[in-house]
Amino acid sequence: MTSTASRPATARMAPAGLAGTITVPGDKSISHRALMLSALAVGRSTVDGLLEGEDVLATAAAMRALGAAITREETGAGQETGAGQETGMPVVRWVIDGVGVGGLSEPADILDMGNSGTAARLLMGLLASHPLVAVMTGDASLRKRPMARVATPLEKMGARIITRGGGRLPATVVGARKPVPIRYRLPVPSAQVKSAILLAGLNTPGRTVVVEPEATRDHTERMLRAMGAVITVETEADGARVISLEGQPELAARDLTVPGDPSSAAFPVVAGLITPGSQITVRNVCLNPGRDGLFTTLRDMGADLTVEAARDVGGEPVGDLVARASRLTAVTVPAERAPSMIDEFPVLAAAAATARGTSRFEGLAELRVKESDRLQAVADGLALAGVVVRTGEDWMEIDGCDGPVPGGATPVVTHLDHRIAMAFLVLGLAAEGGMTVDDDRMIATSFPGFRGLMCGLGARIADAV
Ligand code: S3P
Repeated sequence: MTSTASRPATARMAPAGLAGTITVPGDKSISHRALMLSALAVGRSTVDGLLEGEDVLATAAAMRALGAAITREETGAGQETGAGQETGMPVVRWVIDGVGVGGLSEPADILDMGNSGTAARLLMGLLASHPLVAVMTGDASLRKRPMARVATPLEKMGARIITRGGGRLPATVVGARKPVPIRYRLPVPSAQVKSAILLAGLNTPGRTVVVEPEATRDHTERMLRAMGAVITVETEADGARVISLEGQPELAARDLTVPGDPSSAAFPVVAGLITPGSQITVRNVCLNPGRDGLFTTLRDMGADLTVEAARDVGGEPVGDLVARASRLTAVTVPAERAPSMIDEFPVLAAAAATARGTSRFEGLAELRVKESDRLQAVADGLALAGVVVRTGEDWMEIDGCDGPVPGGATPVVTHLDHRIAMAFLVLGLAAEGGMTVDDDRMIATSFPGFRGLMCGLGARIADAV
């Protein structure tokens, strides 16, 4: 998993702007779910465009340890596919032979989920309704993150989950022999918690119900429905979504194509907007309405950002994003928009730092429990860049520089957080002194090839030492 030896990297102003057409790796959320749900299907599934980042590879390893047969095949140089693979590149296909709902077997060793909160929490849901004992751990970042938010509802379903002090990993999951369905109202807006309960509900007789007061990404619901589960979504008078799953379905194996990750596309898109003279296209980006808050916000800031060739790929809305360098103005992001762009605040902060006026982001409490305390990490990094920033428990204000920020050589501390590293490297493209980060290795958890792709567009990113 992620190495503890850091490799500082620096990004500097691109003199002639960024230009080109790229595809970003497959969506991380969909990739985790594709492996987990295919492993529970009856028969053989194939997945094209799977994200081959360390987070998703941790899920693949865990599902293998639980009995699914998962292989990676290269089918030679191929035509461009809906998964965004370029002509001439080997076409990679993942093949999964499922064990059927309820068919997971006890793992022989500890399950190491690396840096991935999604892998850890969704897997805990799967384990909770199987009669087995499993021990889960993760890297130094993941071992700090809260697991009680999933352990509490899963214990109500009959599992026993013993966590390290304060609800952290490592944890031992003693799965329920006779799981019981629950109706659970989410106390935090989290697709991971919602999904963990629904995945536990798969091997639970009867109807499992999750009520989410604020809508979060719905990839689990879409994929379960496409595989034949009976899952309904109703909206209550106050806007809350009530998601009901009939337990113990037979999930049908299927051939799936994973679209590009909007949370990865966010970095080249913002880079193109804030680097003068740029025009870039990111093809094949997932535009699920639970994920597109950043793009709406950038347009509110005056960004020249358009969608071309809107289409459907594997039950998800997809399009090509075209970003042209734009003079951005400050924006206020209301709390209710936060769940649809929760991973994008670090890179939005980079955009706001170059905008004209003071931006304000609200509803940021969840940022404090991501791969790092992102609210603090962003504030500290912006201060190093010479940008004036104010924060509260769940909000942030940024005084934009109306053009390039000062920047500088002191490395931003990334705390094993891929999105902090990428956001500040992107800011380096609009920083007079460039920007340096203390470590960029963990970028491989979600965006393998980030540096090469950005340099291919014209960015200058290099080792700092
Ligand atoms: C994810 C949900 C979000 C997001 C994470 C991926 C998912 O986390 O930050 O990167 O795939 O369900 P929360 O559910 O904790 O908000």
